[in-house]
Amino acid sequence: MPSKNKLPDNPFPEVEAVYESFSEDILNLDYDEIKHKYLGKKGLVIDLLCRIKEKQNKEKPLYGKAVNSLKNAIEQKINTLRGKENLQQTGKMLTKDAIDITAPFDVNIPLQDKPKLISQPGSLHPITEIGEKALRIFESMGFHVTYSRRLDNDYNVFEALNLPPEHPARDMWDTFWTQDDLIPITHTSAMQNRILTTKKVPIREVIVGRCMRNEATDASHEHTFYQVEGMYVDKGITLAHLIGTLSAFMNEFYGRDVKYRIQPSYFPFVEPGLEFLIECLTCGQKGCPFCGYSGWVELVPCGPIHPNVLREGGYDPETYTGFAWGLGYDRLVILQSHINDIRHIHSGDLKFLEQFK
Ligand code: PHE
Repeated sequence: MPSKNKLPDNPFPEVEAVYESFSEDILNLDYDEIKHKYLGKKGLVIDLLCRIKEKQNKEKPLYGKAVNSLKNAIEQKINTLRGKENLQQTGKMLTKDAIDITAPFDVNIPLQDKPKLISQPGSLHPITEIGEKALRIFESMGFHVTYSRRLDNDYNVFEALNLPPEHPARDMWDTFWTQDDLIPITHTSAMQNRILTTKKVPIREVIVGRCMRNEATDASHEHTFYQVEGMYVDKGITLAHLIGTLSAFMNEFYGRDVKYRIQPSYFPFVEPGLEFLIECLTCGQKGCPFCGYSGWVELVPCGPIHPNVLREGGYDPETYTGFAWGLGYDRLVILQSHINDIRHIHSGDLKFLEQFK
């Protein structure tokens, strides 16, 4: 095996000796010193070159080549060294002069004096992590990801979804209004009409959004939460496609075959309205407070898109059919991590968040 400090294919011991001493020096000297000692006008490489005249004629080309490759090797290494020194310099300048006006302490104090939690590296919020995992799975199934608006109007949140003014089912989404009659979206379904009116079939879209509702909060209700809506519209789409899609998603998400069940429900924008349930992963279907001792968890409200919604979006329901679902991220996180109070998720409490590192 060639030794670490050897020049390849070099038969001249004096050239080797210079390379060996350079390999030592590069560990101890700085860029300027090294450059001067080896590549300077009176440096060791020039000195070697001058000694070419001492060589016999037939040795000269080989010797010239050896000194040249030594010079190249040295140049390459000291350029790397210069790069490193520049970086260290910039790093020093950056930390010395950095001002973070939001930090509750001086960022220039030594690391060990910084408040404990802040000097530790952070991590992704469980909602972000689980959300990304879910989106990658839907993408791998051919869905395109869109982000929902934060504020929307009555038409998109209700009317276009088969919920005209005074429709009694509007009570299911008791919500907030701004003074300009806008609504912090109560569900990601508010994007359905925009998707229908702007995209061409086959529509395969998942829509992520932060939703709000006027809730009296408790361990299982929160006024703010994340949803990922799914929409599929084309000719010949049936309920079987919806169930197949959700079941394939659950199997991939939890990494095993997850038992599921479908039960009737009601949402004015799907017909029939359904609820997709999975086995309770918290208690292994033995019965626990989270599943209400039923062994099943209602996870995804869903159903075939209502003909009125398709028509409002410009699609003839005699020709096109589709399905939609509204999956809550928070429930996925709770199920995966056995969290006993949904309010922890948006509390910003570091003691809670640290457990997800
Ligand atoms: N938008 C409904 C809700 O948040 C969920 C849903 C979406 C139901 C799509 C059916 C189809 O309550």
